[in-house]
Amino acid sequence: MAEAPTNPYLVGNFAPVRDERDDAGLSVTGAIPPELDGLLLRNGPNPILDPDPAAYHWFLGDGMLHGIELSNGHARYRNHWIRTRAACEALGEPAPAGPPEVNGIPSSANTHVIAHAGRIYALVESSLPTEVHADLSTVGATDLGGRLTTPFTPHPKTDPTTGELVFFGYDLSPPYLRYHVVDPGGVLVRTEAIELPGSVMIHDFGVTATQVVWLDLPVVFDANLAGRQPFPFTWQPEHGARVGVMPRSGGNTDVTWIDLEPCYVYHVLNAYDTADGNVVIDVVRYPDMFATDLYGIGASVPPRLDRWTIDPSARTVAIETVDDASQDFPRINDRYAGREHRYGYTSEIKVGKSSADHGSLRKHDLVHGRTERHDVGPRRAAGEPVFATAVSDTGEDSGWVLSVVYDAGRDASDVIIVDATNFKAAPVATIHLPRRVPFGFHGAWIPGASLD
Ligand SMILES: [Fe+2]
Repeated sequence: MAEAPTNPYLVGNFAPVRDERDDAGLSVTGAIPPELDGLLLRNGPNPILDPDPAAYHWFLGDGMLHGIELSNGHARYRNHWIRTRAACEALGEPAPAGPPEVNGIPSSANTHVIAHAGRIYALVESSLPTEVHADLSTVGATDLGGRLTTPFTPHPKTDPTTGELVFFGYDLSPPYLRYHVVDPGGVLVRTEAIELPGSVMIHDFGVTATQVVWLDLPVVFDANLAGRQPFPFTWQPEHGARVGVMPRSGGNTDVTWIDLEPCYVYHVLNAYDTADGNVVIDVVRYPDMFATDLYGIGASVPPRLDRWTIDPSARTVAIETVDDASQDFPRINDRYAGREHRYGYTSEIKVGKSSADHGSLRKHDLVHGRTERHDVGPRRAAGEPVFATAVSDTGEDSGWVLSVVYDAGRDASDVIIVDATNFKAAPVATIHLPRRVPFGFHGAWIPGASLD
């Protein structure tokens, strides 16, 4: 492979931080809405030991949780490495208990963090979930009571009506994909093998009130690249690209597959059923992936926000561009997950050279085809917009958008709280963190949770 004099994912605000802190009484500009009482968690890669820059991929660093607790208008910050087996070894700490690693791949638990059925899980797509406490300490990897032996996606969906957690895992050997459902009490109650022609990277999927939407896209695992390239997946458009629509109550033989032009999708904004039997799925679409950038997000061309309307009977997909600005990390008000949504929120990103970076935030009105922008200011870069619903819950955008914003001017991060109904206005509160939070991936707002 080519020499890499520097790895862009180890410098600037991609560089890891080196310590674990706990800081209460943070300074705030503006006022934190008192009803925002809970914990914002953000997960991301933060290697413990200095990696070889030529071999490091952004997706592979040890997971670190950053927690921002909001209570009575006050804010507290804590960060903590997730104590996976690999992290404990690197930190010189005793190995945690728990089930064996899947495919012998050490978990980094570095991608997302979710709450379900009273538990919090840190997730990475190669591995079992790692349960953590709200105080950011690690319980350990879990096989969900011995029922899960294969990977768990970082993008499961909680059905806001049934409370079920619907998820999948992709794998390196046949059947390559499995579909699972956890009941509202946290018990894994359904597993179905979904047969694919090969091992492809499937980062996210769509779940409606009745259907699952699979994304079989041509980022293909290549065992020959292991050890020769930081991340052993490559762009192979000849593999073909398909979406699959499957009833949530169904299995492998119930999938309707429909061909697409090759593309890649990391993230789904939301999906829902239409009255006429179609499925709408809003996605961030990349024209290619891992064709040039071997160290990070991997695109040579910026992505855009698309709406795909799938007609399973006619086996067609109508593709419409919602917004052609470069953006990713789409989120909604999760109370609308799987139901028709009007609003979506994204983070602007810059891709196509040697790095990925963030910009400002965008709010999309999918009904009226309008986009608003929350400008975070010069030399500032916003991460994923996480939606916190207002207690009054008077409408879909009744609540706040929370985002960790890197401020290059002070080389530290803020958490901004933006009134989603007044998106272009200045944040109602900007919480000044005592350190920078490296660019990472995904997070969650957990009402009522605290770092204690
Ligand atoms: Fe993701």
